[in-house]
This record gives sequence, C-alpha cells and structure tokens, in this order.
Amino acid sequence: MLSCSQPEKMGVIQSGEIWPDDKGVHINAHGGGILFYDDTYYWYGEHKADSTSAAMVGIMCYSSKNLSDWKNEGVVLPVEKNDTTSDLIQGCVMERPKVIYNQKTKKFVMWFHLELKGQGYTAARSAVAVSDSPTGPFKYLKSLRPNAGRLPFNMTAEQKAVFDTLDIEHFAKWWTPDWREAIKKGLFVKRDLAGGQMARDMQLFVDDDGKAYHIFSSEDNLTLHIAELSDDFLSHTGKYVRVDPAGHNEAPALFKKDGTYWLIASGCTGWDPNEARMFSAPSIWGPWTKHSNPCVGPNSELTFGGQSTFVLRLPGKKDAYIFMADMWRPKKPSDARYIWLPVQFKDGKPYVEWMDSWDLNFFD
Ligand code: DGJ
Repeated sequence: MLSCSQPEKMGVIQSGEIWPDDKGVHINAHGGGILFYDDTYYWYGEHKADSTSAAMVGIMCYSSKNLSDWKNEGVVLPVEKNDTTSDLIQGCVMERPKVIYNQKTKKFVMWFHLELKGQGYTAARSAVAVSDSPTGPFKYLKSLRPNAGRLPFNMTAEQKAVFDTLDIEHFAKWWTPDWREAIKKGLFVKRDLAGGQMARDMQLFVDDDGKAYHIFSSEDNLTLHIAELSDDFLSHTGKYVRVDPAGHNEAPALFKKDGTYWLIASGCTGWDPNEARMFSAPSIWGPWTKHSNPCVGPNSELTFGGQSTFVLRLPGKKDAYIFMADMWRPKKPSDARYIWLPVQFKDGKPYVEWMDSWDLNFFD
C-alpha cells in the first residue's frame, strides 16, 4: 500500500557492507522484497544459516521507517521442526519470499519458492502463506506448480499446431540448436502441462488496478512466466504468458514507470554473479522486448557481484526506484550481502550504476 509520506530520516546505504539491525546483528533477509504499508517498510527475506543454504529457520521480517534503521521483527513463517510430512520441514528450501497486501481481503499474502527436503531443486514449487498482520505470523496454506492444464493465453492457433507436434522423446539431448528451438515452441510447457509449470526464482507485482501477478523462472529456468493471481492473491487464475522463451533467466524484478513495465533478471549461474538483463513491455502481457544489461560501469558485467531480487518504488518521491540485489556467499550463506542502488533513467531507459555510499536525498 503506497502513501505519500516521506521516510523519517535519510540514511546512508553502503552496498556490500555488513548491515546491522536494531540489535547490531547483520540483517538476515536474503532474496527478499519490500512491502510499504501504513508508513512502514517491511523487508521479508530468507534466513540463511552459517553452513547451509537450506532453510533451518524460515522467513524473516524487518521493519523500518527510513530504509536504513531496521528492527528485527523475527521469523514470520518458521520451518516445521517435528512433522516430517510437512512441506516446510527444516532442511527444505524456502527462497525469494515476497509479500503483498490485498486491499479487498485485508490480508498480507506471501508467496515463495519451495523445494522439498532431500529433492534438490527438482520440485520447483510455489508456496503461499497468509497473515492478518505484516509482521505475521503467516499461516502456510499450500504449495503447487502453477497453471496445471493451462496453455499461455496468447498462444496463437498456429503456435498451438506446432506445439501439438512436439515430442519430448526426440529431445533427450539438451543444448542442441534443435532442442533450443523446441524449448522456444513450448517443449517443457507441454512436458509439465498436466502437473503444472515449474516455478523457482520469483517475484510478485501489484498493478495500479489492484491485480497481482506472479513472475517466476519456469521450464527448468529456461523461460520466465508471468501469471495472474486470483482476486484474493491466493491462487493462479490460469492466465499467463511466457517471456523470452529459452532465454535462461532467473531472479526477476519487475517495476512500472510511466505505463511501461520493466523487468530486470539475471542469467542462471547458481550462486555466482553474472550479467543482468532487462526487458520492457507496454502491457504486463507483453510484447516483451529485450534490452542490454542495465548495469553500467566497473563490474557491471557481473551485476557488481550480485543478483537481482527486487526493485522498490519509493512512495512520495517522483521516479524514485531502488534496485536490490544479493551478493551470495555460498560458503557462509548468512554472510551474504546486499546491494541497493538507485535506478537512474536516460531517455526513459533505466540503468544502474555502482555507488560506494549514497542516501535517499539522491532522489531530490
Ligand atoms: C540462483 C537463484 O537465483 C537463487 O535464488 C538460488 O536458487 C540459487 N540459484 C541456487 O543455486
């Protein structure tokens, strides 16, 4: 929920450094996103342990009035410690949580990427939880693979005819030119049609009309999907599009400026940084156009050592957006750092430049 108030104090943002919370402990909210509600910023993210990237604690929340002084609000969705039949049993993977507020139901809705314990990254599920308060507790509802039985709504009759001929048996070998062409035409959409589409790195976006969208890496991370959520934000309507088929994108972060939708994403290199990429569209449903890397300057070819997670639009300031990314530290996951940099615009096109230190006065 946006309002027009200003942050209380203009704090300094130093990407890549230790960011202490109100108890002096480095903020532990990775792959996160921010909700602005009732004059407060709520930062949700993955709690990372010292020696494993699996979920040992759950989803964290921090709150702030000014984006620099953060109060630890604790674990808002904990892992399950005893019930081994639970999706959220300790040791599962809970990644990239995002929370949005539903004006109609007055509920806070969290979606996140869930991998089942002991199954690596093969489950590729989306999970949803709900709360009456931004600081939880969130109640876990379900996990699923989105849009079972549904085809992209904009698939033409001609594309459908080609899709119908695709046979997975002919494409056992990955990464060949023919295989890539088949992926573009929907080989893996077809493979996963009955059980639902794979969903890993993800984002949520609430549009000006109150409709919400779930953006996720699907098709074995080969293609992004943008899917409409139901009015209560708790399920998918079945309406979705594919973005950059076979483009191999993850870590999607979507924002809107002056009626144009912008999507910044990364390539797929595990915890290692790579070059960011950007797309734009006049409608959430596309057509999506690919642009070059939005990052500029030294180390921009590696997203300054990070991977996108969110773009925050600042309430009460014109054209003020913050690009947020994670600098992963897989050997000691809890030590991962944050990159927050202003999004700047040249001829209407976003770009991101490294700054050692900056504050919100940048936007004045
Ligand atoms: C990259 C993703 O962006 C992260 O969220 C995480 O899933 C890692 N891959 C796991 O290797």
